[in-house]
Amino acid sequence: MRVWEVDPLAINPQAIAEAGERLRAGGLIAFPTETVYGLGANALDDAAVREIFTAKGRPADNPLIVHIADEAGLAAVVANADSLPAAARAAMAAFWPGPLTLILPASSQLAAAVHPGMDTVGVRCPNHPVAQALIRAAGVPIAAPSANQSGRPSPTTAQDVQEDLASALDGIVDGGSCSEGLESTVVRIDDTGGTIYRPGSVTREALERVLGLPVVDATLAATDASAAPEDGRGTVSPGMKYRHYAPNARVHVWTGDASHVQVAMMQFIGQNEAAHIAVISSRPFSGRISSWMPEPGQDYCTALSHNLYRLLRAFDRAGVSHILIEGVNRVGIGAAIMNRLDRAAEGRVVSV
Ligand code: TXA
Ligand code: MG
Repeated sequence: MRVWEVDPLAINPQAIAEAGERLRAGGLIAFPTETVYGLGANALDDAAVREIFTAKGRPADNPLIVHIADEAGLAAVVANADSLPAAARAAMAAFWPGPLTLILPASSQLAAAVHPGMDTVGVRCPNHPVAQALIRAAGVPIAAPSANQSGRPSPTTAQDVQEDLASALDGIVDGGSCSEGLESTVVRIDDTGGTIYRPGSVTREALERVLGLPVVDATLAATDASAAPEDGRGTVSPGMKYRHYAPNARVHVWTGDASHVQVAMMQFIGQNEAAHIAVISSRPFSGRISSWMPEPGQDYCTALSHNLYRLLRAFDRAGVSHILIEGVNRVGIGAAIMNRLDRAAEGRVVSV
C-alpha cells in the first residue's frame, strides 16, 4: 500500500497526480476531507465501487456519497443537472464547498453499486484542499464513504484508516487530521423545503435561514438505534438503521443539567470500581479517571463535535471498558452529536 504524505497548505502535485491516476484506474484510495477520511473509488467504475463494500464490510443496500470538485461536476453524476430545484442550487451556493451532501436524481452513468436500488445519489463537494486536488487529478467523480470498518467510529487521521482498512487499500493520501470531525449533513431539498437524513455541522437552523423554507430533521423522530429516518415514503437513508460509530468500549450517555450529569457519572464510577472508565464532560473530573474536557473558553458542544471520534478511538487504544459522556441539547451541531451518540451508546442514553 502506498502512503502519500501531503501538506494541505503546500500540496505536492506529483503525489496527488499519482493518487488520482490510481483512483481513475480502479484503485481504492483513502483521502482526507474536512469532515472525516473517505474511502475513495472511481464512481463510474462498478467493480471499483463494489470493492468499497467488501473492504468496509458494508451492507450492500447502503448507498455511497459521490464527491465532486465544484458545481460543474454535477453534470457527470446527476440526471437533469440543468433543472435541479432552485432551493437545492441555493444550498450549494451557500454551503459548497463544505460539509453538505445533497440527495439528487442519479445519472445513469454512475456505477449501479453507488446507489443500490435507489434512483437518487448523495452528492458532496468537500472543501478540504487535498480532497479538491485529488478529485481534479482523478478527473472522475469519487464515491467515498467514511474510511472505517462498518460500525466503527469514522476516521479523522490516516492512522485511524490504517488501523481499520490497511490490508484492503491501494493507498492513503495522508493530509493530517480532519478539522470538522463529524460526517457531512445529508439533506434532500426541493422548492417546498428540506428533509435531513443525517444531521451534521451544516445545521438545520442554518439551512432554514439560507433557504427561507422549513427544514425537518427526520432523525429526530427515529432516535432509537434500530430506526432509520422515514419521510412518509419509507426508509430514506438506509445507513442510519445500522449499528454505527461505536468503539469497542461501552458508551454511556447522560443528558441534562451538567451538575446532575456529573452526579450520575460519579455514581456509575462508584458502582463499577473495577472497570476501566473514561469520561468526556464539560467539567473537570479528578482522581484516577481518564477524562477529557474542552480547553478553557471553548464551547463544550463545538469542541465535542471536533473531538468525539478521535476520543472514542483514543480510549479504545488505551483499553478503556466504559466511556461516560455528557450529552448535549439536540439543537444546532448538538443534533449531529446526539445522533452519533444515540447509536454509539446502543440505547444507553439517560436523561437526568
Ligand atoms: O462527511 C462525509 O459525508 C463523509 C466524507 C468521506 O465525505 N462520507 C460519509 O459517507 O460519511 P458514509 O457512506 O459513511 O455515509 C453516507 C450516508 C449514509 O448514511 C447513507 O445511507 C446516506 O449517506 N446516503 C447516501 N446516499 C443516499 C441516498 N441516495 N439517499 C439517502 N441516503 C443516502
Ligand atoms: Mg460512515
